Amino acid sequence: MQYIIDSADTKAIRRCIEFFPVAGVTTNPTIISREKADFKALIAEIRSIIGPDRMLHIQTTSDVAEDIVKEAEELKKIAGGDFYIKIPVSAEGLKAISILKGKGIKVTATAIFTQQQAMLAALAGADYVAPYINRLDNIVSDGVHVVEEIVELFKKHSISCKVLAASFKNVEQVHKVAMVGCPAVTINPELFDQLIYHPLTLYAVDAFTADWEMVYGDKKILDLLGE
Ligand code: G3P
Repeated sequence: MQYIIDSADTKAIRRCIEFFPVAGVTTNPTIISREKADFKALIAEIRSIIGPDRMLHIQTTSDVAEDIVKEAEELKKIAGGDFYIKIPVSAEGLKAISILKGKGIKVTATAIFTQQQAMLAALAGADYVAPYINRLDNIVSDGVHVVEEIVELFKKHSISCKVLAASFKNVEQVHKVAMVGCPAVTINPELFDQLIYHPLTLYAVDAFTADWEMVYGDKKILDLLGE
């Protein structure tokens, strides 16, 4: 399973890359705007932090197929490395996806809310489809169920496109999409910390430390081995 950072905050990205097994970064126009930065410089900085081999997904701001294609070609040049253009599902978006497929540019179809949007995007040539879990839950739909059915559809129809679930607000949502076989999730940097947090873990580590220090004081194993 791939864990991806849904952020353009370079400080947060740097920290996640240092500590977590991260496959890349996804952004969208809202996430980029939040940084109030020079766009090209921001993309270049994100790429230099994550290196050429991790994925970088950047969303188009155009809504006509030909313009989306041009944007994707230009973005690919400045983003370098393993680049994906994110394209919201629409008729123009699907047209752009199939043109880009022919040009060998990788695509993530985004703003997916239904199973059939995902199917059409995949058949148009998308490499990933990104269903929005929390936004589905917020309208009393069931984000996990939508992901489960997309995963099942792709399996039943031998479609190689992968599901990249997005829009998470809590650990439960991430765990449940993992349990239904979702191969990739994109989550905000705060959620990475919540995924590993448990008070009993902290309690256990404190107890190990206290027991050790009763016998060895503040010496660590390396100190003892060096004696
Ligand atoms: O990038 C798309 C998705 O991650 C949006 O998440 O939190 O704005 O619903 P959110």
